[in-house]
Amino acid sequence: MPNAILLTNARLADGEDDLVDIAIRDGRITIIDATLSHDGYEVEDCEGRLVTPGLIDCHTHIIHGGDRTGEFEMRLLGVTYQEIARAGGGIVSTVAATRALDPEELVAESLPRIDALLSEGVTTIEIKSGYGLSIRAELDMLRAARLLETLRSVRVKTTWLAAHTMPMDFDGTKADYISNVAIAGLRQAHAEGLVDAVDAFCESIAFSAEEIRPLFAVARELGLPVKLHTEQLTQSGGTSLAAEFGALSVDHFEYGKDAEVAAIAASGTVAVLLPGAYYMLSETQKPPVEALRRANVPMALATDCNPGTSPVSSILTTMNMGAVLFGLTVRECLEAVTVHAARALGLADEIGRLDPGASADLAIWDVECPAQLVGRLGINSLHKRIFKGTVVHG
Ligand code: NIG
Ligand code: FE
Repeated sequence: MPNAILLTNARLADGEDDLVDIAIRDGRITIIDATLSHDGYEVEDCEGRLVTPGLIDCHTHIIHGGDRTGEFEMRLLGVTYQEIARAGGGIVSTVAATRALDPEELVAESLPRIDALLSEGVTTIEIKSGYGLSIRAELDMLRAARLLETLRSVRVKTTWLAAHTMPMDFDGTKADYISNVAIAGLRQAHAEGLVDAVDAFCESIAFSAEEIRPLFAVARELGLPVKLHTEQLTQSGGTSLAAEFGALSVDHFEYGKDAEVAAIAASGTVAVLLPGAYYMLSETQKPPVEALRRANVPMALATDCNPGTSPVSSILTTMNMGAVLFGLTVRECLEAVTVHAARALGLADEIGRLDPGASADLAIWDVECPAQLVGRLGINSLHKRIFKGTVVHG
């Protein structure tokens, strides 16, 4: 039978001792039960290994050119991220390196980072534009992101982040840039089917909430969901705008306070926590995890893979950082890269859960419990990765 796989003796993350069988047909999970008939299935014996949904990295800038580890060395000497950005380093320096590459070259530069994630059981990656900052270069970044799905067994969700910062060579105000590049380019990207969501960077070194509002209005007009980098380095005030537009997620959120938490609790927005950036910038302001818990706001974790604040291509390390740096429990860390990450991408019904009907994206691990995944650093316990019902790793 083509594409009918039965995973036997799978251990689920729920802590139950009983092993289960998971039937997969035509790329979807069909039944999960104590024992299932093997008839018509190719059998894959998990031998008691932990089986989780394929992991989801719901916030990355993984497609880009160039390298900024020189800035890492400057920060070690005490220069801050904002000072580097104001001096012409930071995002705009990656822009020059990214603009120099065509989509094929961008993909080639990014594949080692992508492959590192896939080797850790990732089956879905969100990829943002935001290092082109011209219509042509922003579109090329998303073309590269779309190309990836043809080269690797992975689901890619693209996000339009032209409102990442002001490019050095733009002659006009921030409002002009939003209208002539971020909005005009978004319309084009949408017409070409390149974009799944719209994001912006709400921060003093980028754009204010009121500058971002017209962009979100166009996203709404086009039927695209929004997300927002906000409350990362200061209390920048983007959360109320995000909540007003029913954002899928607010991302970073270290400076979110009770009012921001209440706003996203009401709008059903996911808080995407990015401990890699917090760690690499030696930040001390932690996201309000306890308040998020109390308000039942779903928390996701993601690598934020980017050349500046988070040159991190490891979802397992990110889960560990979520626990150690932000105080998430093991269970919260696993949910943060599965069910809640799926929701942050608007894919809650499709991925991130082991339920009949969901896409058969799974990871089989050489461990017995999620704590062994989250509580160890530097060991990759992936045994096999299954994408849409096909074993693609291992
Ligand atoms: O998510 N916060 C804004 N954007 C990225 C950093 C981009 C960069 O420094 O290149 C982030 O941290
Ligand atoms: Fe980011």
